[in-house]
Amino acid sequence: MGIDVVPVALGARSYEVRIGSGLIDRAGAEIAPLLRRKKAAIITDETVAAAHLARLVAALEAEGITVSSLALPPGESTKGWEQFARAVEWLLEQKIERRDMVVAFGGGVVGDLVGFASAVMRRGVRFVQIPTTLLAQVDSSVGGKTGINTAQGKNLVGAFHQPSLVLADIDVLGSLPPRDLLAGYGEVVKYGLLGDAAFFDWLEAHGPALAAGDRAARHYAVKRSVQMKAGIVERDETEEGERALLNLGHTFCHALEKATGYGDRLLHGEGVAIGCALAFELSQRLGLCAQEAPSRVRAHLRAMGMKVDLADIAGDLPSAAELVALMGQDKKVVDGKLRFILARGIGEAFVADDVPPDLVTALLAEGLRGR
Ligand code: GLY
Repeated sequence: MGIDVVPVALGARSYEVRIGSGLIDRAGAEIAPLLRRKKAAIITDETVAAAHLARLVAALEAEGITVSSLALPPGESTKGWEQFARAVEWLLEQKIERRDMVVAFGGGVVGDLVGFASAVMRRGVRFVQIPTTLLAQVDSSVGGKTGINTAQGKNLVGAFHQPSLVLADIDVLGSLPPRDLLAGYGEVVKYGLLGDAAFFDWLEAHGPALAAGDRAARHYAVKRSVQMKAGIVERDETEEGERALLNLGHTFCHALEKATGYGDRLLHGEGVAIGCALAFELSQRLGLCAQEAPSRVRAHLRAMGMKVDLADIAGDLPSAAELVALMGQDKKVVDGKLRFILARGIGEAFVADDVPPDLVTALLAEGLRGR
């Protein structure tokens, strides 16, 4: 299979995403050429540290790099002011400078928090993303969105700060709990749905093998997803337009995550999958696409054993009107109007700012009645 390299061409902020097996063990050789002083600081979480940190430290030290590491508590609640301050102060104590490298080693929580810490430390130090979840490999580690959550909402404080390199080691996906892998797969499906019908066809054929552990299928799915994300980010780094397509399913997802407390009841990628199914259903009701499109989306998610409907979320949910009100608090609201990513078919998504809220309420009410 070898290592695939996907460039992200952003002028002076350009970097590569390298995808393949054994990249953690090669991390020293990959990172050393970027260093102006052989010093790196790894921030990870306790779960990833227990499984993989010793190998990463050994790989860096083998290249003569001086390494220190900090393991934060795992989980979404880490992505707030308290652990952010801890990370920044720890990096300052380690005397990390611009010629050194910060390494974000973990899933989306670690990548977003450490990226943001790197953005503000000494007005910006360089960092490498080594994502250890499928979701982080295909989405959050690429594109430079960094940040933390506050009492007011998710990701409301942050910065665009591109990494200097992303190393997506396919082998680490083998140690993910199946539920986390499938949640990440929600973001993979999103790429096919938003802009590449042939990739969605491929996922229909190969998704089950990917979930069962087929490394070649995992490698290709990560590569194709990253290629698509890189292209979108290159054309619209700061989300003035096209990058919003990456939010397919997310307006629904964010309301559902808020309603379920951002926890174990609904993982982010699960919410994205349900949100994609709802976005296609909404598109069909608006006469934008044929019924075949939402039917195929739902059938594939079902075949993968994923959550598809509101009925698949355990416990009580607020009313449809309350869910729509939660969407109104999303940062994707522009001038008070709800923004949805809709589709004219599989692989043909676009941004819509004029969706009648009543139609959304009716769609959700129907889903809630099915519970
Ligand atoms: N995860 C959405 C984006 O990077 O724009």
